[in-house]
Amino acid sequence: MNIPNKIASLGLALAGLWSAAALAAEPVKIGLVLPMSGPFAAYGKQIEHGVRLYLAQNGDTFGGRKVELILKDDSPGTSGDVSKRLAQELVVKDKVDILAGFGLTPSAFAVAPVATEGHKPMVVMNAATSSVTTKSNYIVRTSMTLPQNSAPIATWAAANKIRTVFTLVADYGPGQDAETQFKKSFTAAGGTIVGEVRAPVKNPDFAPFLQKIKDARPDAVFLFLPPGAETIAFMKGFTERGLAAAGIRLISTGDLPDEDILEAIGDAALGLVTSFHYSEAHKSPENQAYVAAYYKAYPKDRPNFMSVGGYDGMHLIAEVLKKTGGNTDADKFIEAAKGMKWMSPRGPITIDPATRDIVQTIYIRKTERVAGKLQNVEFDQVPDVKDPGKQ
Ligand code: PHB
Repeated sequence: MNIPNKIASLGLALAGLWSAAALAAEPVKIGLVLPMSGPFAAYGKQIEHGVRLYLAQNGDTFGGRKVELILKDDSPGTSGDVSKRLAQELVVKDKVDILAGFGLTPSAFAVAPVATEGHKPMVVMNAATSSVTTKSNYIVRTSMTLPQNSAPIATWAAANKIRTVFTLVADYGPGQDAETQFKKSFTAAGGTIVGEVRAPVKNPDFAPFLQKIKDARPDAVFLFLPPGAETIAFMKGFTERGLAAAGIRLISTGDLPDEDILEAIGDAALGLVTSFHYSEAHKSPENQAYVAAYYKAYPKDRPNFMSVGGYDGMHLIAEVLKKTGGNTDADKFIEAAKGMKWMSPRGPITIDPATRDIVQTIYIRKTERVAGKLQNVEFDQVPDVKDPGKQ
């Protein structure tokens, strides 16, 4: 090599070192898109709690880079246009490296093309329609899918003297997924669907549906509503209109007795059997530590599945950064996330390398009073459940 070439390659090497050092000095910006106000404000609150708790416990520097959160309120969380505009702003103006959060499906659907076009990894911490992860190759999910949680309760119901079911779901992605999977698994196990209703997501009037169900006299109602004020209204109606008294049972995924609204539902929740991936009452050392740390940090709230979706989402980001040495390139990020396994407060979880979706244990639980507090007490489980919505 002649002298000028040597000088040139030395220059290149120095430039490489310089850019690596500059990268290390730059924080990793995470743009969190969450509903922080409006009807689904509790989703944003819980996911943010989970993310911040992880950082409080583990520090904020991973793979040599400090992480910085930039939070945008996409209230109500059901308007894709709002979420998309905020995500675009995060990418273009704030120059975020990672998009994360997403309380509701319309938000995740709308932001998926922003992740693809902007070449940004997108970590979905709640939105649970099966197809979310198919909307961009840069999406990875740490929450759950509705089919994943609906199949086990269908099988349980058919094996436990429930022969006829009326389904009632919110008419959007997760509700449609819950209905489809419940029907599939329940009829495959010998059950019969005697009626089905899809209620509007906004301001549903349950009275006519409740009457229809009462007249149909099913053994049980299978319900999916995004947890919130409507769930509390439905439970009130179910009792007041005499469905419970008529011996009609209620079964659902754990979205219904969500710890965040459980006390507001009150005694009407007692005896509910549900299937879900997370319960505050889950008995493991990891969950006991999580619950204790959560109450210490947020004494006015209760840990729920959304907080764990945020906590595990932040864990995934931290572990990816450690693996890539702080490189957030979307292709590298997703490669590093594929197949990742860890022990969550909910139990063992894996990121399916084929789908970038979560594989986890689904528990069958009964809502009971434990030490004066309503809790979802696990009594059975199905390990390693993949999203059946994609099979
Ligand atoms: C969703 O919109 O994807 C969603 C919202 C609330 C849930 C589950 C899924 O509990």
